[in-house]
Amino acid sequence: MTSIAQSPAWQALGRHCQLVQSQQLTALFAADPGRAGRMQAEACGLVLDYSKNRLTDDTLRLLLQLAREAGVAERSRAMFEGERINVTEGRAVLHSALRAAPDTALMLDGRDVVADAAAVRARVAAFAERVRAGQWRGYGGEAITDVVNIGIGGSDLGPLMVCEALKDLAHPRLQMHFVSNVDGVQLDDVLRQADPRRTLFIVASKTFTTQETLTNAHAARRWLVAHAGDERAVARHFVAVSTQADAVRAFGIDADNMFGFWDWVGGRFSLWSAIGLPIVLQIGAEQFDALLAGARAMDAHFRSAPPEANLPLLMALIGIWNIDFLDAPTQVIAPYHQRLHRLPAFLQQLDMESNGKSVRADGSPVGCHTSPVIWGEPGINGQHAYFQMLHQGTRFAPVDFVGVLEAPAERADAARIAFANMVAQAEALMRGKSAAEVEAEMRTAGIGADRIAQLLPHRSFAGNRPSNTLLLERLDAPTLGALIALYEHRTFVQGVVWGLNSFDQWGVELGKQLAARVLEDLDAPADRHAHDGSTAALIARYRRQHPKQG
Ligand code: F6P
Repeated sequence: MTSIAQSPAWQALGRHCQLVQSQQLTALFAADPGRAGRMQAEACGLVLDYSKNRLTDDTLRLLLQLAREAGVAERSRAMFEGERINVTEGRAVLHSALRAAPDTALMLDGRDVVADAAAVRARVAAFAERVRAGQWRGYGGEAITDVVNIGIGGSDLGPLMVCEALKDLAHPRLQMHFVSNVDGVQLDDVLRQADPRRTLFIVASKTFTTQETLTNAHAARRWLVAHAGDERAVARHFVAVSTQADAVRAFGIDADNMFGFWDWVGGRFSLWSAIGLPIVLQIGAEQFDALLAGARAMDAHFRSAPPEANLPLLMALIGIWNIDFLDAPTQVIAPYHQRLHRLPAFLQQLDMESNGKSVRADGSPVGCHTSPVIWGEPGINGQHAYFQMLHQGTRFAPVDFVGVLEAPAERADAARIAFANMVAQAEALMRGKSAAEVEAEMRTAGIGADRIAQLLPHRSFAGNRPSNTLLLERLDAPTLGALIALYEHRTFVQGVVWGLNSFDQWGVELGKQLAARVLEDLDAPADRHAHDGSTAALIARYRRQHPKQG
């Protein structure tokens, strides 16, 4: 397989980039009054304005040609139809089947996966309803008030992000907690204020082997049994979500309290499966179905909308343009709504674990840059922190501004201020501020010539820094579902163009293996494993701090 960098469209984009690179966005807008209107696309309650990117109609034409040469439409069909596109693990990639219309069928290895997903969803809904109604009771006979999801990565970030985003729909009695860190602090913080008689633990792990999750789950189990004074309490307070029924049973959780999913659901794409149990507990099955419906609508849009109006395709191609042609090493996610504060962390795993790779699906070198560093924080806070670098740093970082149009009446004024800031930041990044403008401003303020000369370079902004603005008509379950699916497909399209397998994550394995060896050596009187000088010294320093007793 040849790298996409050898393709005619890529080569043409490289040549075209020479022309576009020197152009100013402000000049492109001035020369073309129709630009903003043309470079907008809308679907599923989302509006994308991509006009503030350093591209022209020719760029878009070439990028769409690139998508055709990379076979995006064919790969997408293969994914949706259940081909084993995750070639290194020999698996299909069917998170879309988890949200497919209930009257459709999709056969994989002789089973209808849509029907299987619906059956688990029905069990999840029934269980969640009992908890929400106060019928599921703890060992003391009391209703559940606190739910602790113990999981990490895809078994944490998706449900956490959605539960935060849809907090306004939360069940009034149920408080959700998420524990992922293995260091004990996060779990202690939750347990300190939890009532064991009213606390439900969800052990969420696709593999049920993840060290962090199992360590926390065992600690939580000990805590519960110590308070209850009876092992049988576990059945009232622990449920599991996993693909590994035997491992769940070995932990001591009954099959009745386990909700399954399948190897064709990648961890970072799993919130639509039983991994979404915390979401169902928080917002109810009906709203969870609405979340799925929103994602389903985005699936349909992605599969059928014309390329030039296709949101995931456009966002993916613009990302590739920024990363590979304009040389942007990172991508900022700046949500302007507090409820979306975990969106950057969620997208970090979605994108970087999927596309943070250097070889193509066939093992050959990829030949271009792939996943950028995804980072971000709520934009309004970022304005008082990292935005300085965005405006005046030596590297540019494209931004996805994510805003919400509708706000409840009681928050409308405050929300308007947040919205104004978002729009202004995108404008400022693009416009910049010329030396002439700064000079005129300082003159008007009566500042002397020497001082003006001194401050001019500090107070000018080069501008021409690109961004997308993504507007949600409202922050509700369907629109959030569509937003998540949009980013999933954006990640998928980029992976296809780069020729990657976006659905494995071998890069996390080495660290896991070495952690096991280091852990052994921390407890041993001397290293059993060979380490480099730095690692050995760090282990020795730890041992000095923790001398073995006796
Ligand atoms: O270490 C990375 C990873 O494998 C992710 O892909 C996954 O989401 C996470 O660990 C948790 O895995 P599990 O759900 O099997 O505990």
